[in-house]
Amino acid sequence: MELDKSPNKGCTHRPHFLRGFSDLFCYNSCMKIIYSRSQSAKYKKFIKNSYSWKFLESRTLIKYLKPLISSNTKVLDAGCGTGSLVKLLLDLGVKPKNILGNDISPYMLEIARKSYPKVQFVQANLPELKLKSKSLNMVVSSMVLQFLNHRDFRITIQNFSKWLVRGGHLLFIVVHPLRFTSNYSEYFNNKAQSEGTPWGTKIEYYPKRLSDYLNVVINSGFVITSVEEPKPQGKEAKIYPDEYKKYSTKPTRLVVMASKK
Ligand SMILES: C[S@@+](CC[C@H](N)C(=O)[O-])C[C@H]1O[C@@H](n2cnc3c(N)ncnc32)[C@H](O)[C@@H]1O
Repeated sequence: MELDKSPNKGCTHRPHFLRGFSDLFCYNSCMKIIYSRSQSAKYKKFIKNSYSWKFLESRTLIKYLKPLISSNTKVLDAGCGTGSLVKLLLDLGVKPKNILGNDISPYMLEIARKSYPKVQFVQANLPELKLKSKSLNMVVSSMVLQFLNHRDFRITIQNFSKWLVRGGHLLFIVVHPLRFTSNYSEYFNNKAQSEGTPWGTKIEYYPKRLSDYLNVVINSGFVITSVEEPKPQGKEAKIYPDEYKKYSTKPTRLVVMASKK
């Protein structure tokens, strides 16, 4: 997979005052909070046992991706983390040399690289990532794009469109827009919010409405082919009644599948 080597126009300043605290809060050069080494290790354990990964995200990804993958499929996993979706792609038959994993956290990538040494990984803030035009057949992203602000989300989707060949596929899963609102009156409040996580990272996310997600995709040269609000899938999902109830009564994930025009 070829990267575009032209210089990055992103910000370059470094937060000197935060040196020495890198394992508590880790920032990149644009002052975005990134997962530290210990948080990345915790995340790897978390995702391995995650109910939603097992019964919502991975099942949905397999359902949509399996029929589309051939031996030559070139895929970008945007915000790959420790590589759970990279593994899923490998299991579906994508060749390691045809997968590019991207993440903003070098520590997430450190773990991913160790687990999948034949796959190429690149550290970058998604809206600043540079790839060659029409170099991909597929872009996948699971549980990442809700962390981008509206501008960065638009730039990122426009870049995905540029990097995909005609007929190429985009599939992303995000936290469902309603999951960020405790009542209807907050639905149009799109101010940044922060939240703790089971793996110890304080994350900042940018609530977007359903129309924000869909219109950016439509206006970036895609045809939307599927929109889904998945519930837990598979018989074993009911073995965990509390989790099953939590994920089957409220919308928790939004899945968007689109094809490049
Ligand atoms: C909840 S994790 C999901 C990881 C992986 N996709 C998975 O399903 O296990 C979110 C990931 O998005 C990455 N991320 C967040 N903001 C990003 C950005 N602006 N650019 C690239 N990666 C980002 C984080 O570092 C983290 O690895």
